Amino acid sequence: MDYTRCTITTASGEHIANLPMARRETVYDVITRGDLVTLRNTCRGSTICGLCRVTVEAGAEALEPPKVDERDLLGEDAPENVRLACRLTLPAAARQLVISTPYWQKT
Ligand code: FES
Repeated sequence: MDYTRCTITTASGEHIANLPMARRETVYDVITRGDLVTLRNTCRGSTICGLCRVTVEAGAEALEPPKVDERDLLGEDAPENVRLACRLTLPAAARQLVISTPYWQKT
């Protein structure tokens, strides 16, 4: 299987984890499988709640733009680098994705 890496940081850039991520996995899958941090949500990755927002700190240039369902949940005011973890996958060209949310803290 072809893996890349998903790096999880605090909003201030402190490293929390660096997890392997398969090509078709979502960031939601990676985070819940890793069980190292909590990702806010109420729909378990079904793209209904809109709570699983993450900020893409690095690697955004390789990402596909959000599809309609993700864009609708994010709303017009969301910055371009804010995405829903349950919709966020990496294209083949990407090797590294760095994400954060304001509520993750280094323990
Ligand atoms: S987990 Fe609910 S929208 Fe992503």
